[in-house]
Amino acid sequence: MIVKTPPLGWNSWNTFGPNINEQLIRETADAMVETGLRDAGYEYLVIDDCWSLRERNEKGELVADPAKFPSGMKAVADYVHSKGLKFGMYSCDGTMTCARYPSSFDHEFIDAKTFAEWGVDFLKYDNCNRPLNYSGRLLYKRMGLALANCGRDILFSACNWGAEESQNWIKETGAHMWRSTGDIVDNWDSIKNLTEQQMRLLATNGQGCFNDMDMLVVGMGGKGNVGFGGCTVEEYRTHFSIWALFGSPLMIGCDIRNMSQETKEILMNKEVLAINQDPAYRQVFAVPTITEDLIAWKAWVRYLEGGDIAIGFFNFGENPVNPCLAMTEIGLGRVSGKAIQVRDLWTGEDLGVYRDHMEVRVEPHACRMMRCKVVDA
Ligand code: GAL
Repeated sequence: MIVKTPPLGWNSWNTFGPNINEQLIRETADAMVETGLRDAGYEYLVIDDCWSLRERNEKGELVADPAKFPSGMKAVADYVHSKGLKFGMYSCDGTMTCARYPSSFDHEFIDAKTFAEWGVDFLKYDNCNRPLNYSGRLLYKRMGLALANCGRDILFSACNWGAEESQNWIKETGAHMWRSTGDIVDNWDSIKNLTEQQMRLLATNGQGCFNDMDMLVVGMGGKGNVGFGGCTVEEYRTHFSIWALFGSPLMIGCDIRNMSQETKEILMNKEVLAINQDPAYRQVFAVPTITEDLIAWKAWVRYLEGGDIAIGFFNFGENPVNPCLAMTEIGLGRVSGKAIQVRDLWTGEDLGVYRDHMEVRVEPHACRMMRCKVVDA
C-alpha cells in the first residue's frame, strides 16, 4: 500500500479521551458527511485509546468493550464505511496501551488479523509500556510486518513521538506516517513547541511516510481531554497553516458535531488543504527575510506541482512584524525575467505582482499563507 499524500481525518483522543462510545462514533461519521468535511478530503475516522475490555478473550483476541460498543467493532466499521469514510483504530507496541488497556506486544499477528476482520483501514500504534530489552525499532517492524500480512490494506500510523531517533529507522517498519513530535495540547505554547520540534526533522519527511506533527487542536476552544487553555481563532489559523504547509497529516481533534463557522472555515479552506495535499509533495524550506529592526525572520516556502510556490509567514512573537522577502531567496529575482503573482489564501485577495521583493505584515501569533504563480516580469 502506497500513500501519496498526507492522510486527513478525525481522531477521538484530543476531545474525548476515554469517553468514547458507539453513538459518538456514529454521530461523528454523520457529521463528517453533513458538515462537508468528508468531501473536503477528511476520510479517516479513528478511535484512539480506551476502546477495549481490560482483558483479552480465551482465544487471546482483543475485545471491544460491550458497554461502549454494544454492536461490536465490525458493526461500527460497517457504519463508518457506509458513510463513504475509512475506519481507524488504535493499539500500542507495549504490554498495555498508554491508558493501560491490553496492547499488542507479542500479539501483533493475532491483533492485525482481528483488525482486518473488523474492516479496519488505519492503525495508530503507540509506544507505551514496552518491555525492557525491546526497542521500538524492532516492535514497530513486527507490527508493520503483521499488517502487511493481514490480508487487508491498513494504513500504519506509528506514534512513538520521535523517540529513539526514529527518523533514522521508521521507514524500515512499513509506517505510512510517524509521530515526529511529542503530544499536542490545546494552547499556543504547545503549537510553538511542536513547530520547533519539527524544524530539525523536515528533511526526513517524504511521500509514503509522512512526518506527523500530532492531531489538530483547531476548534477545541480549551474543552476536552487535552484542552489546556485553548487558543484564539487566529492562533488556530496559524496552527493549521503550519501543519498544512509542513505536510503533516491533518487529523481533526475537536468535536465536529458542534463546530463554529470559524472552525469550519479553517478546516475546510480548500486552497490551504490543496497545499497540504499537493501531489508533488516537495519538502518545505526556510529562507531568511529582512525586518526593519533586522530581527532574523524566516519565510517558509514549498514548490508545488505545476510550478506554483507556496509561501507562509508565521509570527511567534508578541509584536507585529513586516518581513521583506527578496525574490532571489526563492529562485527568482530580476535576472530571471520572472515575478510572482500572489494570492492570500486566508483573505482570498489577489495581492498583485512582485518582482524584486515582497513585504508583508504579520500580526502577533498570526500567519500569512500565499500561493504564488510565476509570471513574466
Ligand atoms: C499518547 C499518544 C496520544 C494518545 C494517547 C492515548 O501516547 O501520543 O496521541 O494516543 O497516548 O493514551
